[in-house]
Amino acid sequence: MHPRFHTAFAELPASLQTALEPLMRHDDFPSMLTAQQVDAVKDACGLDNDTLAFALLPLAAACSITPISHFQVGAIARGVSGNLYFGANIEFSGAPLQQTIHAEQCAVSHAWLRGEKSLASITVNYTPCGHCRQFMNELNSGTGLAIRLPGRAPATLGDYLPDAFGPKDLNITTLLMDTINHGFTLAETDALSAQALDALNQSHAPYSNAQSGVALETHDGKIYTGRYAENAAFNPSLPPLQAALVLMTMSGADCQQINRAVLIERNGANLSQFDATRATLAALGCQNLTHHRV
Ligand code: THU
Ligand code: ZN
Repeated sequence: MHPRFHTAFAELPASLQTALEPLMRHDDFPSMLTAQQVDAVKDACGLDNDTLAFALLPLAAACSITPISHFQVGAIARGVSGNLYFGANIEFSGAPLQQTIHAEQCAVSHAWLRGEKSLASITVNYTPCGHCRQFMNELNSGTGLAIRLPGRAPATLGDYLPDAFGPKDLNITTLLMDTINHGFTLAETDALSAQALDALNQSHAPYSNAQSGVALETHDGKIYTGRYAENAAFNPSLPPLQAALVLMTMSGADCQQINRAVLIERNGANLSQFDATRATLAALGCQNLTHHRV
C-alpha cells in the first residue's frame, strides 16, 4: 500500500479495511474505485453511497500535499457511472498561492481526466470555498450537483451558490465534462507530444478559445496528461499543468520526479500558459519544458 494511506487506513472501521485492502494493496492504487468495486464494498460493509463517501474522506485527505498550510482537505467525487474519484489539496512551495489546487478541483478534474462524463455528487471534509463553488458551477451537472458535508443536511450546489454567475451568462453552452474533440493535429510524433495534443483536444476553453494540454513524463517513464479547464469567472480556471499534477498525484506518483514536460497551445491565442507552467515546473525541480503550438 502507498505509505501515504497507512495512518488513515489503520483508523477505518475493520470491515472497510477488509473490503479495501485488496484494492489498495499496491503502491499504484489509482485513488479511485470503479462502480463494481463500489458496489462490492457497499455490500460488504452495509454502507450506502453517502456513508461510503464520508468513510473514504480520510483516505482522500491523505493524498494532500500541503507544505504551506499543513491543512488537509479531502474530496470524493461520484460520477454518473458510479465510479468514485479521490481528490486532495495540492500546494507548491516556491510558486504563487494562485497555483494551489483545491481538493474539490482535484476530485472533479480527476474524474474528468479518467473519462467520467458527468458528476452526481461531491463529498468534502470541509465546506467548499467560494472559488470551488464557482469552479463546480462550470460542470455539466449544473446547480443540481449533490454536495455532502459532514454534519450538514444533504444539499445541492444551487444551495451553496445562490444567484450563481456561470457559463450561461456568457452564452456558453459547452460545459465542463461535456465530451469534446477540438480536432487539432501536430507534426511532432513523439509519445509525450501526442498525449499533450490529445489533452489539448479535450480541454475546456470556450471563453478564450486558447485550448491547451500538458503531458508530464517521470524519471521512470510514466506519462500523465492534463487538460486546461476554463471557468466563466476566469480566475477559478484550472491550468493544464495543474490538471496533469492531479492525475500524477492521484496515481501515486511524486510531483518532484518529473523528467520532462510538453505544453501545447493554440497558435495566435490571446493568452498563454507558458510562463506559469515553466515557473511551477521549476518549483517542482523540472527545467525541461517543450512548447508546441497548433
Ligand atoms: N482548500 C481546499 O482544498 N478546498 C477549499 O474549498 C478550502 C481550501 C485548501 C486550499 C489550501 O491548500 C488550503 O486548503 C488552505 O486554504
Ligand atoms: Zn476551494
